Amino acid sequence: MAAYVVTGGAGFIGSHLAEALVARGHRVRVVDSLVTGHRRNLAAVAKAIEFIEGDLAEPDVARAAVSGMDFVLHQAAIPSVPRSVAEPAFCHRANVEATLQMLIASRDAGVRRLVFAGSSSVYGNEPTQPKREEMPADPLTPYALQKLVGEQYARMFTSLYGLETVTTRYFNVFGPRQDPSSPYSGVISIFIRALLDGRRPAIYGDGEQTRDFTYVATVVDGVLRACETPGVAGRVFNIATGSRISINRLYRVLQQLTGSGIEPVYEAARTGDVRDSQADISRARAVLGFSPDVRFEDGIARTLAWARAEPAAR
Ligand code: UD1
Repeated sequence: MAAYVVTGGAGFIGSHLAEALVARGHRVRVVDSLVTGHRRNLAAVAKAIEFIEGDLAEPDVARAAVSGMDFVLHQAAIPSVPRSVAEPAFCHRANVEATLQMLIASRDAGVRRLVFAGSSSVYGNEPTQPKREEMPADPLTPYALQKLVGEQYARMFTSLYGLETVTTRYFNVFGPRQDPSSPYSGVISIFIRALLDGRRPAIYGDGEQTRDFTYVATVVDGVLRACETPGVAGRVFNIATGSRISINRLYRVLQQLTGSGIEPVYEAARTGDVRDSQADISRARAVLGFSPDVRFEDGIARTLAWARAEPAAR
């Protein structure tokens, strides 16, 4: 048994990590500002975890977060490309300042390893597919730049101070508990909610842009491997499926599964939207033994089952 702090643990991906760690018998602390996270996401493990509400950009909160912890899974972020375009300074505080404070606190507390939640957005519009970790970054938005700064800070803390850090670059993660309620939410959660509520969702641009949609359990597996595999400090790993589908195709699949005849509304493309995004996961396969095994259709079916059980008001 080890002690883990999951920052952003009341959020979508963080809450799945917290559940997986509790299931493995670990001691778990969650720290979350509840700006985008919700206590209800932790309902299944509420009694088994310690919860701290706070802003990790405050050095005191970051210190309290890591105190007594072996491992840090730093998932806290404002995870939205369009929100970062609208509010770059607000997102900078959550995505960069809080990461720096967590790195400093982890270094000072003698944490064994910090895993940083990176993002595929750092690849930008470089046309080569699939994306390999060693490709040059081309951040197109504040969010992408902030995630790039976070992972470079993490790597620097490894080389400069010897703090073990690993970055997991997520692609487009989906699954139960992804919050559909904001215009900044992930596309799958928005489409599902609209179809179930009988509303027409928007497709931005021509819908032929593609994404490597990754089921959340696959991400949890990748993060825990990144945390446990020896000898990988300072490294970056794509955590995704290695395939991609278009937004139009995604829409058709969801339409079929919900039995809905509702057609989308096509609107102008989003500023800073990446055209195509597909991961090369050979590094994670070879070094971490990572092997995504949830089929896209199965992940969608589980997400849909969850969404059907959710009150529409959320
Ligand atoms: C990006 C990042 C991802 C990051 C995530 C955080 C890339 C390739 N991916 O996702 O790594 O973790 O942000 O949020 O940069 N769309 C619609 N209608 C909608 C909503 C979205 O058509 O109602 C379209 C978008 O224009 C986009 C695609 O769906 O082309 C995916 O959008 P979204 O789910 O917001 O994620 P990304 O911006 O791709």
